[in-house]
Amino acid sequence: MILNLLMMMAPEAAGKAAEGAGKAAEAAGNAAASAAPGMPSAEAIQGLHKFPVEAPHSWATLPQASTFAEGVDTLYLFIVALSVFFFVLVMGAMFWFMHKYRRLSPDQKTSSITHNGKIEFLWSAIPAVLLVVIFIWGEIDFVKQTAPPSDAIDIRVTGQKWSWTVEYPDYPGKILTSNNVEPRVTMIVPKGRPIRLTMTSRDVIHSFYIPAFRVKRDVVPGRYTNMWFEPTQVGEFNLFCAEYCGDQHSRMTGIVKVVEPELFEDILADYAKLEPNEGESMADFGGRIYSIRGCNACHSTDGSAKVGPSWKGLWGKTESLADGSSITVDGADGENYLKESILDPNAKVVSGFAPQMPPYAGQLSDQHIEALIAYIKTLK
Ligand code: CUA
Repeated sequence: MILNLLMMMAPEAAGKAAEGAGKAAEAAGNAAASAAPGMPSAEAIQGLHKFPVEAPHSWATLPQASTFAEGVDTLYLFIVALSVFFFVLVMGAMFWFMHKYRRLSPDQKTSSITHNGKIEFLWSAIPAVLLVVIFIWGEIDFVKQTAPPSDAIDIRVTGQKWSWTVEYPDYPGKILTSNNVEPRVTMIVPKGRPIRLTMTSRDVIHSFYIPAFRVKRDVVPGRYTNMWFEPTQVGEFNLFCAEYCGDQHSRMTGIVKVVEPELFEDILADYAKLEPNEGESMADFGGRIYSIRGCNACHSTDGSAKVGPSWKGLWGKTESLADGSSITVDGADGENYLKESILDPNAKVVSGFAPQMPPYAGQLSDQHIEALIAYIKTLK
């Protein structure tokens, strides 16, 4: 309501600012698409904050895009309003008493004050009642958020440094991976259907956070955590990792795409599709797999070192391995080495890199691996 008031006082300026932000985000999106891999540009980082769906009010930064959003916002505004009310009350009383009981002459003595039982009771009882109200209100929303309906669509989320893998057990073979390449779609869900996420981590603690849905939950190695939501708006919404998990933490982002329920299966199949397009070369297909399956999170194609060795110039190169031996990535041996490194990455680790790549056995077919190898061969 305070924000509403501000809005009433300066609607023009606020509207303009929102419009300007939208334009900047659009430009940043374009910049991000053409930016070189490695560290993102300032524009690209700004682009991560674009919210393609309109916020409910021009002063708000976040759309209310799930059934939880309004409840969370209402409680939040209630707490803010309550805090402002008591801030004004306490500060006002303080300044008024400072003036009223100021020292009037140099020899004036402070009167003897003992205590006032009634006031002391009230200043404990009133805040206590208010806190209980906030607790019960919050608890009702919290319980709602922790109990997914039984007809929810199951989605499994795996966090790892520094990407998300999203699998659909009800739709076998459909896997999406976050990667910082447009269109950055990491999860596709139908509007108006409850979605239940079962989440775990391969390495450290991450946190799965979709601000527009007002949901956030830790993703912990060695155990499963649950989260659910029901999207109410079609559109694209930002997804963030909200737990510092290493130096690429801020790039562990993605987009949750909410679609009309009748289009859901088609769109999911389209985004998760991993078949060569008609007339597409194996190398081009491999290039798509590289970004769709998130290889790009750890392997650059421009020679820069990321979590894993760069793929640029990999074919034909002699790699020294952590065990002291070396291998020339060429011919049949080279192909076998690359295939083994995809299916069982810890078998031969390149010296200087930590053995932290997840095995892709069962996630990529022989055709996918052939395509990836064909793509690697083109990266001279
Ligand atoms: Cu994953 Cu921060």
